[in-house]
Amino acid sequence: MAVLKVYEYPHPILKKKATEVEAVDDELRKFLDDMLETMYHAVGVGLAAPQVGVSKRIVVIDISHDDEDKMDPLYMVNPKIVWKSEEKVCGEEGCLSVPEQKAEVERFAAVKVEYLDYHGNKQILEAEDFLAIAVQHELDHLDGILYIDRISRLKRQMLLKKLQKLREEKHERA
Ligand code: NI
Repeated sequence: MAVLKVYEYPHPILKKKATEVEAVDDELRKFLDDMLETMYHAVGVGLAAPQVGVSKRIVVIDISHDDEDKMDPLYMVNPKIVWKSEEKVCGEEGCLSVPEQKAEVERFAAVKVEYLDYHGNKQILEAEDFLAIAVQHELDHLDGILYIDRISRLKRQMLLKKLQKLREEKHERA
């Protein structure tokens, strides 16, 4: 397994619509393993393939915080939302491609998602609460959408200013 490089805003690959995966084979499974390791290494709860420079419809998610709510990591290939709740929720989101920033984003409170798993088997997941938010955030990446595209222009400008400042500080320290 390997830790992959995470691409950050405003890298153009993050704006691109990702293409469908043709086969879940050993080569793809190796990539899924690398994605999961990269996500854990960066202490994220989800990661989409475009974030590591691969414009394919693949995400990994693990929202467990400790042993108590430990879940098996989700590997989703060609995921598709097939149902959305009428109810919406607002939650704070961050993204490994927009380091150290956070903002409130409105999402559907629950979604049903269809995908191929690690073994290429078709699965349907009913997600609610934080998992539903994570699924929507990661699937957005596959369509070239970042959570900062879903907040007001003013909030986005403020957030990007903070990101810029952070990068300058890091640059000065280096
Ligand atoms: Ni993200």
